[in-house]
Amino acid sequence: MERHIPFFRPSINEEEIEAVTSVLRSGWLTSGPKVKTFEDLFTQYLGVQAVALSSCTAALHLSLLVLGVKPGDTVITSPITFPATVNAIEMAGGVPLLCDVEEGTLNIDMEKLEDLLKKGTRPKAVIPVHFAGQPCDMEALAYLAKRYQFAIVEDAAHALGATYKEHRTGSGYGPILSSLPWTTCFSFYPNKPTTTGEGGMLVAADKMLAERARLMSNHGITAQAWERYGDVPFYHWETVCQGFKYNMSDISAALGISQMGKLEALHKRRANIDRLYRRLLKEKGLNRLVAPLEQKPHRMSAFHLFVVKVMDGKRDLWAKRLKDRGIGIGIHYRALFYHSYFHQRYGWDPQSYPTAARVSHQVLSLPLYPDMKEKEVEYAVGELCQLEG
Ligand SMILES: Cc1ncc(COP(=O)(O)O)c(C=O)c1O
Repeated sequence: MERHIPFFRPSINEEEIEAVTSVLRSGWLTSGPKVKTFEDLFTQYLGVQAVALSSCTAALHLSLLVLGVKPGDTVITSPITFPATVNAIEMAGGVPLLCDVEEGTLNIDMEKLEDLLKKGTRPKAVIPVHFAGQPCDMEALAYLAKRYQFAIVEDAAHALGATYKEHRTGSGYGPILSSLPWTTCFSFYPNKPTTTGEGGMLVAADKMLAERARLMSNHGITAQAWERYGDVPFYHWETVCQGFKYNMSDISAALGISQMGKLEALHKRRANIDRLYRRLLKEKGLNRLVAPLEQKPHRMSAFHLFVVKVMDGKRDLWAKRLKDRGIGIGIHYRALFYHSYFHQRYGWDPQSYPTAARVSHQVLSLPLYPDMKEKEVEYAVGELCQLEG
């Protein structure tokens, strides 16, 4: 039987459609009450300040600026990420430096980071990428941040709904980040744990930092749209700092509000699919050839992606065959040093990042979305079994 299983399908139903159309009917389309409500929901969920933006890339960019990254400052991140992470460093004028990843989780290897610091690298900030939704070792990172005095910008594009030692990603993890300068950045791109179509959220415990980011997100002017055009007495607004056009629309926020109400349910369904994949791969004896990522204790993933490492050296062949059989796949990620632009600009040598270099040729992401049926997971694993032969 020929089937088509997409790599991803967003969970949008009548509730979201009604939420969006009601904004269209309301006469207020951007930077208004829906954005405020969406931010308030994040504040309730994480206990921190929240600034809704046009993308996670915007959140990363603003985070680096408000945390004081200046042209020429070093910012360390992972090579196993989407280009947006390094693009944001470049946009802030920073100099990106890569640190190799752990074999099991594909998150930054904190021992290798410590080696870099011991050898004298002094970053202004480090961007840990919570790959596929599983948090990095934040306690180890916080220890290094205190010792070597750098800020932390969490790239949590994949990680809304994740926890580390029982604390939610984006909350600052109780005492762990409490004495450090930090922000967390989420993405609401359609395949992310919740979506607004396009969008992002910058969260921070530090109110001044969040307010600075808000100011910069709206051209650096002293009034948001609803203050300029809403029911307030006349006054002259002013540009007080460098600014960007990074605000979120009420149309997007309305979608986000509906999605936030379902976050736990969507997360549970993603977790079930992840569990089913792992069980089936094991039962079929495939889990050595097609090895899922390691799940570390005391960390709950957001289960954004189901990534396996294809161990027979034929990942591209598997990817092509699965696509030919109607199964959507992704590659997360080919390390950034393999991309021509980054390679030419920074001369990054794959041999300096042996784990990232190796896994770049192994990783394969299988379909995972909350509305995916058990039968579809079984079908995808069944196709993998056929390819094995
Ligand atoms: C790890 C990572 N960081 C940042 C981003 C950028 O997110 P956005 O598209 O919301 O700017 C993405 C997007 O896929 C991502 O996967």
